[in-house]
Amino acid sequence: MVSMLPTTSLVPVTEALLADCLAFDHVAAGGSVERRSELSEAAEHGRMRVAVSHGDTAGYSVVAPWFFGAAFLALVYVKSAMRGQGIGSRLLEDFEQAHGPQVFTSTNLSNARMQRLLRHRLWTPCGLLNGLDEADPEIFFAKHL
Ligand SMILES: CC(C)(COP(=O)(O)OP(=O)(O)OC[C@H]1O[C@@H](n2cnc3c(N)ncnc32)[C@H](O)[C@@H]1OP(=O)(O)O)[C@@H](O)C(=O)NCCC(=O)NCCS
Repeated sequence: MVSMLPTTSLVPVTEALLADCLAFDHVAAGGSVERRSELSEAAEHGRMRVAVSHGDTAGYSVVAPWFFGAAFLALVYVKSAMRGQGIGSRLLEDFEQAHGPQVFTSTNLSNARMQRLLRHRLWTPCGLLNGLDEADPEIFFAKHL
C-alpha cells in the first residue's frame, strides 16, 4: 500500500510550475504542440493543479473544460522519477475533493497502472470507447463520493 508523503502539497499552477510540468511531461517535452497548448490553456483558465513534493514539482492534474455538466479528469501525470510514491493517488484525492460528488476520467485500456490506481481509489469502470486510439480503446471510470 502506498501512502501519501507528508511533504506532498497540492497547489494552483504558476508560470514556473507550468514550465516544470512542460519539461517533465514526455509528450510536451517531445514537442507535442497539442499537449503544450492543452496544459497552457488549463493553467490560464484555472483548470490545472500541481503536486509539489520535497520542494520538487512532482505531477499535475487537469480538469476538462466540459463533460456533460460533470467533472472529467482529463490528465494526471507524475514525473517518472517520482512515481510509486503515492503522488498519483494524492492528485486523484485532490481532484475528488475539489470536483465531487460525481467524477469521471478515462485512460487507454493498455494503461494498467492508471487502472490499478483508479480501482485502489474505488473508481469503477463505466464504459469503453473505440475509435479514438487505433487498437487501444479508451476505458472510462466514475466515482460517486
Ligand atoms: C499513472 C500515474 C499517474 C500513477 O502515478 P504514481 O504517482 O506512480 O501513482 P501512485 O504512486 O499513487 O500509485 C502507484 C502504485 O501504488 C498503487 N496504489 C495507489 N494507492 C494505493 C492504495 N491505497 N492501496 C494500494 N495500492 C495503491 C497503485 O495502484 C500503483 O500500483 P503499481 O505500482 O502496482 O502500479 C503515473 O504512472 C503516470 O504519470 N503515468 C504517465 C501518465 C499517465 O499514464 N496518466 C494516466 C492517463 S491520463
